[in-house]
Amino acid sequence: MPPEIVAHRGASAHRAEHTLAAYELAIQQGADALECDVRLTRDGHLVCVHDRLLDRTSDGTGPVSTRTLAELAELDFGSWYGAGPEVGVLTLDALLALVADHERRIRLFVETKHPIRYGGLVERELVRLLARYGRAAPLSLDEASVITMSFSSAAMRRVKRLAPAVPTVLLTAGPPRKLPPWADILGPGVRRLRADPGFVERAAKRGRPTYCWTVNEPEDVRLCAELGVRYLATDSPAATRSLLSGP
Ligand code: G3P
Ligand code: CA
Repeated sequence: MPPEIVAHRGASAHRAEHTLAAYELAIQQGADALECDVRLTRDGHLVCVHDRLLDRTSDGTGPVSTRTLAELAELDFGSWYGAGPEVGVLTLDALLALVADHERRIRLFVETKHPIRYGGLVERELVRLLARYGRAAPLSLDEASVITMSFSSAAMRRVKRLAPAVPTVLLTAGPPRKLPPWADILGPGVRRLRADPGFVERAAKRGRPTYCWTVNEPEDVRLCAELGVRYLATDSPAATRSLLSGP
């Protein structure tokens, strides 16, 4: 079975990351799933922004967490990339609505950032939103339309406590840690798989599929397919699809 193609921050090779346009293009490009990072605003909304600071991807400055949603809505999240200044901040609510309304099933991988600072507020708001969209109680991993992930074990343990049926990915950049019982999927970076190709098989023997990030080089796409990676995060879903279906 070929890996599911996960659009990392949307089709972020072709559109400003974490914007509606990036996610709509990813869907047009045939992505099976979308990936987003979420942060909490000062007034408790989850917004799709990767960095702690606003500076790189908007015309704002300083931490996302010090602004209200209304303040973020005034900022321009498009011009830094060459897209129009009318590109606003994307909320997780809007992204959930996009996938909920789509005619085919599009999975959503939600990565929580800042797990320590808010002492559980991020996960509580995430689970509240998932419940509102009827996404908090999937029957199985395959049936799950929203999967949560983090580099923080504390964050994923909290999700499991609040919504035991919601699948969790433990992301790791370095060598594998001890396998926690709550981790449904293991998420190594692609450099880890290059250095340790036996990772995927060992994880499978322990009943855990592998989610690999962020896979943009053709030889890495092929490596992931050969090794049996289940979910492959990429900035360019169309290029990845053609590599996977090519000769
Ligand atoms: O898909 C996981 C990957 O997104 C983790 O790295 O820095 O892009 O959030 P980062
Ligand atoms: Ca991410």
